[in-house]
Amino acid sequence: MDFIDLRSDTITQPVTEMRRHMAEADVGDDVFGEDPTVNALQDKICELTGKEAALFVTSGTQANQIAINAHTQPGDEVICEYRSHIFNYEAGAPALLSGVQVHPIQGEHGILQPAQIEEVIRPRDHHFPVSRLIGLENTHNRWGGVIYPLEAIKEMRTFADNQNLLMHLDGARLWNASAATGIPIKTYASYFDSVSLCFSKGLGAPVGSVIAGNERFIERAHYYRKVYGGGMRQAGIIAAGALYALEHHTGRLMEDHIRARKLAEELNMLTGLVIDLQRVQTNIVIIDTSLSGIPANEFEALLSQNHVRMKAISPSRLRAVTHLQISDDDIKHTINAFKNILKHQHSLVD
Ligand SMILES: Cc1ncc(COP(=O)(O)O)c(C=O)c1O
Repeated sequence: MDFIDLRSDTITQPVTEMRRHMAEADVGDDVFGEDPTVNALQDKICELTGKEAALFVTSGTQANQIAINAHTQPGDEVICEYRSHIFNYEAGAPALLSGVQVHPIQGEHGILQPAQIEEVIRPRDHHFPVSRLIGLENTHNRWGGVIYPLEAIKEMRTFADNQNLLMHLDGARLWNASAATGIPIKTYASYFDSVSLCFSKGLGAPVGSVIAGNERFIERAHYYRKVYGGGMRQAGIIAAGALYALEHHTGRLMEDHIRARKLAEELNMLTGLVIDLQRVQTNIVIIDTSLSGIPANEFEALLSQNHVRMKAISPSRLRAVTHLQISDDDIKHTINAFKNILKHQHSLVD
């Protein structure tokens, strides 16, 4: 039996039709700006985000890091939530590549309030770095795929304008937020100076992300993409996968959310597991295993013996992510795997 792989929505395999589109894509040299498929994708992203310009890049990390560099000067400070991808999972790149420091702040379930940022904004004095940029994440991965409420974003924008701060959105999974709320990508993007979006997560493309913003920002981003070695030549081959994903896979994201919900509700009924159902808003489920007496990494190994893969993200928490290649039957099998493991554990304890 194949593994039911819930470790991440990044593990999806490109579907046959997507592969065909990729193989047949019209291509040119994108470093010369001559790849028609990349250009079509960038135009589509401008339309979707309402931004003046867009740039196709290799990954979500590259998108965020190019945006940070394009917005800042060395020595500046970037304010992010403390569990954000930018702060935790981008290999220290803000310091390494842009020479900026990240100021992490803990939000309530990932949501920052302007008052919290007001507290840490640096006075204009030669002792301090310059507070330059706020980075928000929507949906918020490490907080379990929670959606950043539009009202909170609006308030942050007003605050940022008053304080002369820029705003970047890590929208690796903005598609999921938009599918769940019905709020268009364009509406979310309108509150940010730049937005990054990924095609290789819930949308199921094999590679690629994009950044969007005004012309001047994208001109700078173009320069940094080159600096980071991200100028690709016949990149239309992969852009075609992204275009296919936009057309065929955004409309199905609610299926992933419904499956995540089902998994969360059923697991939450099992003795030993706790899930904060209020936070299961999109395709991510965080499972607290502490009451079961089985540490999360052991649970991970036991699940694996039952042909289910999940990720231990702390000593007591597992993360499951639903995606394109997870079916209703896979969810049923996963729930049964948990039941078997817990039954065995209880019989040992009794
Ligand atoms: C919220 C968020 N931002 C950025 C990224 C980085 O994307 P990539 O793996 O393409 O660099 C990820 C990856 O999972 C993510 O979850």
